[in-house]
Amino acid sequence: MLFGTQTINEQGHLEVGGCDTVELARVHGTPLYVMDEEALRQRCIEYREAFEAQADKPIVAFASKAFLCKAMVRLASEAGLHLDVASLGELRLVAEAGVPLDKVTLHGNFKKDEDLEAALELGIGLVAIDSIDEYRRLSELAVTRGVRQRSILRVSPGIDAHTLDAISTGRNDTKFGITVETGAALEALEECLSLPGIELIGIHSHIGSQILELEPFQLLAARLMDFLLSAREKPGWSAELVVLGGGLGIQYEETDDPPALQSLAGAIIDGIAREADERGLETPRIGIEPGRSIVGELGLTLYEIGPIKTVPSADGGTRTYVSVDGGLSDNPRPVMYDAPYPVLLANRAGEDASMEVRIAGRHCETDTLIPAAFLPEPKSGDLLAVQCTGAYNHTMASNYNFFYRPAVVFAKQGKAREVVRRETQEDLLARDLD
Ligand code: LLP
Repeated sequence: MLFGTQTINEQGHLEVGGCDTVELARVHGTPLYVMDEEALRQRCIEYREAFEAQADKPIVAFASKAFLCKAMVRLASEAGLHLDVASLGELRLVAEAGVPLDKVTLHGNFKKDEDLEAALELGIGLVAIDSIDEYRRLSELAVTRGVRQRSILRVSPGIDAHTLDAISTGRNDTKFGITVETGAALEALEECLSLPGIELIGIHSHIGSQILELEPFQLLAARLMDFLLSAREKPGWSAELVVLGGGLGIQYEETDDPPALQSLAGAIIDGIAREADERGLETPRIGIEPGRSIVGELGLTLYEIGPIKTVPSADGGTRTYVSVDGGLSDNPRPVMYDAPYPVLLANRAGEDASMEVRIAGRHCETDTLIPAAFLPEPKSGDLLAVQCTGAYNHTMASNYNFFYRPAVVFAKQGKAREVVRRETQEDLLARDLD
């Protein structure tokens, strides 16, 4: 599978953004995250345009936790997207990137006072309130500063998004948001409206990630409109903005068939309009917060292949283990979620890939990256490209075994620029004070 601007050149090498990946690995070292800059920009624009074509002033906000660095934040912002952050660190990076902070939303189920203080200080656009405790503290802090913070209330709508347990967040049994079904969300809304430091302009819900169907989003539209109907009846409040989170999946496997952006936009926008109309409510402004479906397919990781071993397997046959020079620390998702990834040999991308091997990381763990990958018979020194690592890889990387986190390169029109440098031993030792 090839994504974005990827092609295979005459030498049989994989190219991204007109850059030969073999050359990228030589210049920048491995493991290396490579992002397809022009395709990323196009994707951001396509996302915004898909929603703008069907709705009035929709807000498409890039969920920065999926892939965060200043270059990406600037790219998304230049493409007309808003941004989401989920911590003080993410907020500070976004501020450092110099993008307009009135187009940023702060998320998180435990925002500490220092997070809220920083958000107020920086003039953040929206706070997505996640708990009763939070809006009480936020209101007090805002009053102390003599401001009212524009906010949205995150509600938990009781929807099962048919995705992995660990990334399904819309069910009743979740730490996120305030439950609709028990009436807790409506009570919270009423209290919020009475607080002097909060200007509540809407509601929010994010039901999960890597969702490959439209139905959960349609169900969400209906549940949120039910909630808004009850809000209009009791406190007599109507929402100006309804944010439906992120969650659209990508093609990690041949069989994954994510809906097109136009279909997603249609399902959400028509869904909200229809459900609002049926209840006699005004159609609110719509917001969404895609992360994975913007960056996921447009990033890959390059690894050098090292030792290769063929060993007896449990089924009486043999298995070939191919070790690469990264693993759990640069991509924890296979170990955490059994997440699948497409692969190819970047330096022999045109060859027939019919040998089944297991790709192993180099940590002191059984950190299998890909349990069954099909490649041309690999040799030590070959270059492996693991596709679709643009989301939740760079941002979830760790220093396990004191590995240096990889550099990030943006490739565009034959030129590559390192936007995050590789970590060094000095970086890692800097915090060790003994
Ligand atoms: N909005 C909120 C409030 C979120 O919590 C998230 C993701 C998003 C938007 C973006 O969702 P996306 O469009 O990327 O699905 N580490 C997991 C994914 C965790 C998602 C967390 N929240 C993984 O690697 O699959």
